[in-house]
Amino acid sequence: MAVNKEQVLAALEGVASPTGTPLPRTGALSDVVAGDGKVFFSITVDAADVKAWEPVRKRAEEVVRALPGVQSALVALTAERKGGAAPPRPQGRAMPARGAPRGEAMQGVPGVAAIIAVASGKGGVGKSTTAVNLALGLSALGLKVGVLDADIYGPSMPKLLAIRERPQTIGGTRLKPITRYGLTVMSIGFLIDEETAMIWRGPMVISALTQMLREVEWGTLDVMVVDMPPGTGDAQLTMAQQVPLKGAIIVSTPQDLALIDARRGVSMFKRVNVPVLGVIENMSYFLCPRCGTRSDIFGHGGARHEAERLGVPFLGEVPLDMAIREKSDAGLPLVATEPDGPHAQIYRDIAAKVADQLKGAGAGRAAPKIVIEA
Ligand SMILES: Nc1ncnc2c1ncn2[C@@H]1O[C@H](COP(=O)(O)OP(=O)(O)O)[C@@H](O)[C@H]1O
Ligand SMILES: [Mg+2]
Repeated sequence: MAVNKEQVLAALEGVASPTGTPLPRTGALSDVVAGDGKVFFSITVDAADVKAWEPVRKRAEEVVRALPGVQSALVALTAERKGGAAPPRPQGRAMPARGAPRGEAMQGVPGVAAIIAVASGKGGVGKSTTAVNLALGLSALGLKVGVLDADIYGPSMPKLLAIRERPQTIGGTRLKPITRYGLTVMSIGFLIDEETAMIWRGPMVISALTQMLREVEWGTLDVMVVDMPPGTGDAQLTMAQQVPLKGAIIVSTPQDLALIDARRGVSMFKRVNVPVLGVIENMSYFLCPRCGTRSDIFGHGGARHEAERLGVPFLGEVPLDMAIREKSDAGLPLVATEPDGPHAQIYRDIAAKVADQLKGAGAGRAAPKIVIEA
C-alpha cells in the first residue's frame, strides 16, 4: 500500500509550527511528493527562524515516517530572505572574491578526516565512474573511505554500485549509509526517485546536501570522496563553502570544449581557496579490444597540458574502454571486481597520488589523519 499526498498532509496537521499553527496551514510547505513509499517535501522559512523550525522539520519527518507504507521520508528546511522576496536564486549569487573567507557556517563532518570533491566542468565526462574507482583505489591503500553522491539532479551511485536498498534510520532521525565494496555510501538516489530530483529548486538542493553531510552516520572515515554535480554553479559553490574541502579533483576528457569547462572548475575552486589536487584525463585514448591498436580519438594529452598550464598536478589518464562502461553501468566497478586488471592499476596509481597529496595538504589546515602502511 503506497502512501499518497493527502495522507501525508493529514498527518502533518498534527505537527505544529513554532507559533502553534498546524504545518499545512503555515504556507511554508512546498508541494508534497509522495509515491512508491517515498515522501519528500520542503519547509521554507525565514532565514532568521531556522533554529526554531528545525524541531518542526524533525517532527514532520518522524510523523511521515511513521505512516503505513512509508519507507523513507526526507524533509528539507530551506531558508528564504525576509520580506517575502523570492528565494535566493542560485545563479544570482555572486562568486566570493579570491581570498574571501569561506562560509561562516562551514564546519567539518565529525569523524571524517578529509573531504575531497571530484568535479567536472560538464556532465558525461565520467566523473562518477572516476569518483567510485578512485574511492575504491583509496580503499585498497588501506584507507577507510566514504562516497557522498552530491549530484542531486542526477545521482549515480545507486547504479554504479548496484544499490537498491533503502538506508535505515537510526533513532528516528539520522540515516545509516549503505556499505558496498568496503565503501560507506550515501546518495539522494537511495531516498527518492530520479524524476523527483528533477523538480528541486536551488535551496532544496542545498538543504538536501547539508542533510546528507550532517544527518548521516558516516562513522570514522579517512577520506570522503564527494561526487559533485557537473558544472560550476551554485551547488558546487555551496559545497565548497559549506564543507571544509581538503581538495578538489577535476575530471576532463581531452577535447577542447571539455577542457574549457575544466579550466572553469579549476578557477572556481581556487577562488574559494580549495586546493586543486589535480586533473584526471578520462577517455584519454582508445585501445581497440580486438587488435590492441591505440587511437587518440579525442586528441589525447589535452588535460595534461592544461594541468601544466594551470600549474596543478596531473594525476593520470584513463582510457576509453568498453569494459569500463559495461562494468560501471552494471554496478561492478573495475577496481573492486577486477583488481588485478590494467584499469584497476590505473585508478590505484591515481589514488596513490591523491593520498600523497592529502598527506602533504596540511599546511595552514588541519592535517588529515592518514596513515598508509607500506
Ligand atoms: N573511461 C571510460 N571508458 C568508457 N566509458 C566510460 C569511461 N568513463 C565513463 N564512461 C561511461 O560514460 C558514461 C558517463 O559516465 P559518468 O561517470 O556517469 O559521467 P558523469 O558523472 O561525468 O556524468 C557512463 O556510461 C560511463 O560508464
Ligand atoms: Mg555523474
